[in-house]
Amino acid sequence: MRLQDKVAIITGAARGIGGEMAKLFAKEGAKVIAADMAPLSYEAENVEYYPLNVTDGEACRTLTQYAKEKYGHIDILVNNAGITRDAMTRKMTDEQWDLVIDINLKGVFNLTRYVGPLMEEQGGGSIISISSVVGEYGNIGQANYAATKAGVMGLTKSWAKEFARKGIPVRVNAIAPGYVMTDMMKTVPEELLKKFASQTMLGRLGQPEEIAKAALFLASDDASYVTGHILSVNGGMRL
Ligand SMILES: NC(=O)c1ccc[n+]([C@@H]2O[C@H](COP(=O)([O-])OP(=O)(O)OC[C@H]3O[C@@H](n4cnc5c(N)ncnc54)[C@H](O)[C@@H]3O)[C@@H](O)[C@H]2O)c1
Repeated sequence: MRLQDKVAIITGAARGIGGEMAKLFAKEGAKVIAADMAPLSYEAENVEYYPLNVTDGEACRTLTQYAKEKYGHIDILVNNAGITRDAMTRKMTDEQWDLVIDINLKGVFNLTRYVGPLMEEQGGGSIISISSVVGEYGNIGQANYAATKAGVMGLTKSWAKEFARKGIPVRVNAIAPGYVMTDMMKTVPEELLKKFASQTMLGRLGQPEEIAKAALFLASDDASYVTGHILSVNGGMRL
């Protein structure tokens, strides 16, 4: 029970990596608010669905207030919601660029701008944002996505300084997963998935549960001296 009595908000928690985090955090004793545009694809005790589009700043403020009023505190925020709209740069539309920036980058800002200060006021908390191996190394056809995931690393380091500047233990970290088998990967051709797997030291793609376990570590007091860190969970890709 590594998250006993903790309250966690996880965005994009209807399925995939966020869904595994929500289930694992609840199993470890947390009360989880699973915030997503889509309804949950599973049922789990102590996981409550909250409809949210992370691009809606006002709705993010309302969610923060709701959680504060219901539980009195918010201990963990996981900014996990994210999408891809891949295209070569010469063919990328404004719509593809704007949507990915809005959800993957502004969406992270939208909720953290309210939850971070609240954690400062209450005396601590853990914020985790999901970046990507693509933010670390870039990728052909994913300039928009790479920009947002590199941006998440910049936000993480800035907030690790900003929210803890009075010595208050608000820890802010990011996870940079490698390629993980979720719906997001459904459009990726089989031969490309094989290539990604072969680029790892472990010879395989990741499972969402493996990212959830890394998030559990960063969310829990086991990581009490870890902040401003980008944790790569990628099977040794590009070593
Ligand atoms: N799967 C991978 O290989 C991989 C690798 C690195 C990083 N990531 C990142 O991990 C995170 C989770 O990805 P996943 O693979 O589980 O994808 P997924 O598509 O399975 O799940 C994404 C979830 O985010 C939700 N979502 C999308 N837009 C939203 C919005 N505007 N507001 C609220 N919720 C919204 C979706 O409804 C969905 O439930 C993303 O940030 C993604 O970029 C994934």
